[in-house]
Amino acid sequence: MGKIIETQIIVIGAGLAGYTVASKCSLLGYKVIIVEKNKNFGGVCLNYGCIPSKYFIDIAKVLEKNKYLYEKNILLNKIKFNLSNINLLKKKIIKSISLDMIKNFKNKNILILYGKAKFINKNLIEIVGKKRKVIKFKFAIIATGSVTKKIHNIPKHNNIWYSDDALKFKFIPKKFLIIGIGVIGLEIANFYKIMGSSIDILDESDLFMPFLDKDISNYFYNLTKNKFNYLINYKILSISDDLYVTSVNKSNGILFKNYYDAILIAVGRRPNVNNLGLKKIKVKFNKYKGIYINENFSTNIPHIYAIGDVIGLPMLAHKAIYQGKILAGYLNGLCNINWKTIPNIIYCNPEIAYVGLNELEAKNLNINYCSVTVPWRFIGRSYLFDYKYGLTKLIFNRNNNKIIGGVILGFNSGELLGELSLAIEMGCNAEDLSLVIHSHPTFYESISIAVDMYFDAIN
Ligand code: NAI
Repeated sequence: MGKIIETQIIVIGAGLAGYTVASKCSLLGYKVIIVEKNKNFGGVCLNYGCIPSKYFIDIAKVLEKNKYLYEKNILLNKIKFNLSNINLLKKKIIKSISLDMIKNFKNKNILILYGKAKFINKNLIEIVGKKRKVIKFKFAIIATGSVTKKIHNIPKHNNIWYSDDALKFKFIPKKFLIIGIGVIGLEIANFYKIMGSSIDILDESDLFMPFLDKDISNYFYNLTKNKFNYLINYKILSISDDLYVTSVNKSNGILFKNYYDAILIAVGRRPNVNNLGLKKIKVKFNKYKGIYINENFSTNIPHIYAIGDVIGLPMLAHKAIYQGKILAGYLNGLCNINWKTIPNIIYCNPEIAYVGLNELEAKNLNINYCSVTVPWRFIGRSYLFDYKYGLTKLIFNRNNNKIIGGVILGFNSGELLGELSLAIEMGCNAEDLSLVIHSHPTFYESISIAVDMYFDAIN
């Protein structure tokens, strides 16, 4: 077996969950080893997910603003962009964040091992890299993230993409089919549209954005239905080698056929649990086919933990970071997990941000709720540029006036959601929110207008 390296904590995966837990555990005085199979740190989020997609979305916002000013005859020339320079800067940004992460580990004396980790038994892990290494650990933390779900019976083709391919931005397809109206599909559709693609978005479900209340998903649908050709409740029948796609409307049987220059498959992600030796050590799995954990992130083997996407839905980077922070504290006897809510943001246009309960969830919990919605045309700030297409919706528990949920839809709404997350986490009621002075003219003053509307509604 060769020389065995001993450590207190071994973290598998240097994505955001692994990065956070390793850093925090080291700050708390543990001896930590982190294993990563890629030379870049940061996992999917940094390399093929959140960071590159938000970079493209930010560029798209600039282009949209310029287009608006051009149409209003304020800018006299249309602006042009250089795709290869956009990609070059993306690579530089990713590299620099990844190097900062590695530097941070080195400063904290965390040992980085490159290679693929696999459990030999409940106390030993082997790392297969340039040189095989065996690690004996007190605690192991699995943070191997998630991988894209595939669909069967599709040809092998350079222009059939998954999200990581789409974020390489090789070219702008004239005709682009996106399969899956989920978060990834909508975000990628958004910036390729602004760059010039004509987009069909297909989903096999008959529900459009089922995670939102109907009033919000309808509002979004109506705002975007001329931008995208939505094929809701359609099933793909075939995709030919030259990307000719036949699909069928599942309710009326009508066929839809089209040629595409590229196709994106964005039908979800699944926990990355393969080739880790988990079956050998008898780790249990959950309904998401992710690693089963208890309330303290421990698997059925008490000294082996799992955090982030590898445990299943919701697969969100901020949830993974938070879990890393909490797990480090828990290992050190500091705190328990006690969060009320996880914020969600879909970075499309208009941006959709929501937190807490929606109306349906409140109803199912038998909460006596009241919701109020402020269209953004009620706020002065929205008249600059084209920002009036937005809304702020708050949901209160009528019995104690506490805020229990909210949706903000519109320009940069994700940045406005913080106030609602804080209010829900702190158990604020409508009076608390109404005592906060909201600056004028801002988008977040829509929150104080919504609170006034709530008082009107209940009195
Ligand atoms: P998703 O689960 O959000 O959406 C997948 C969609 O594909 C669903 O609407 C489903 O009905 C449809 N679908 C499934 N199989 C299909 C098929 N064979 N044909 C047609 N439609 C089909 O998955 P998505 O968008 O791939 O995202 C994966 C994960 O990444 C999610 O858990 C999401 O939370 C996370 N993510 C979060 C982001 C954010 O918070 N801004 C950004 C990107 C990803």
